[in-house]
Amino acid sequence: MTQFDAPFRPTCVPALARIQFRAATCYLMAGLVLGIVMAASGDFTLKGVHGHIHLLGWVTLGLTGAVYALAPDMAKSGLARWHVILHNLGLPIMLAALTAYLSGVAAAEPGIAIGAILSSLGLGAFTLAIWRAL
Ligand code: HEM
Ligand code: HEM
Repeated sequence: MTQFDAPFRPTCVPALARIQFRAATCYLMAGLVLGIVMAASGDFTLKGVHGHIHLLGWVTLGLTGAVYALAPDMAKSGLARWHVILHNLGLPIMLAALTAYLSGVAAAEPGIAIGAILSSLGLGAFTLAIWRAL
């Protein structure tokens, strides 16, 4: 245990915020690697994947985690739990299907829709949770 563990380890930071920060930083790293690979290779086929890894993964997941850290009571709600489950389930499905689709696998298209709908339902639950808490 180092001094840097302190702000996140105690129960004052809700588990949902920690899940979101962990997931968001994984997406941050994955998006950076893909960005560098695209820039180095000059092949931008997967730029939609890169953009949404960063924007729906790093930015949106991270931002919602920050909201849960700021409003721990909100993080205890069922809506918040549904958000975290659906967002973290739908996003990898959407990104994997989008990667396959952009790489020429047309059959992957429904997977993009399923992942996008799950993620969007999750973000709808997040929106309701915020409005209830305000
Ligand atoms: C090492 C860091 C990064 C590298 C090397 C990188 C590289 C790239 C490249 C090569 C493209 C395609 C550009 C083109 O089509 O001409 C791109 C697009 C994009 N990047 Fe990054 N990027 C980086 C970080 C980020 C970050 C941190 C974000 C957001 C938080 C981001 C968001 C986007 C978006 C939204 C697009 C446009 C996607 C689209 O048009 O569908 N990138 N990036
Ligand atoms: C489930 C949610 C989402 C879906 C289904 C979705 C879908 C799309 C689609 C179909 C495109 C056009 C891709 C193309 O032309 O190649 C796009 C582009 C883009 N999206 Fe999303 N998106 C979602 C969420 C978001 C979020 C949350 C952000 C920002 C925080 C975002 C930022 C962008 C940006 C910056 C572009 C590129 C625009 C451009 O280059 O003209 N998207 N998205």
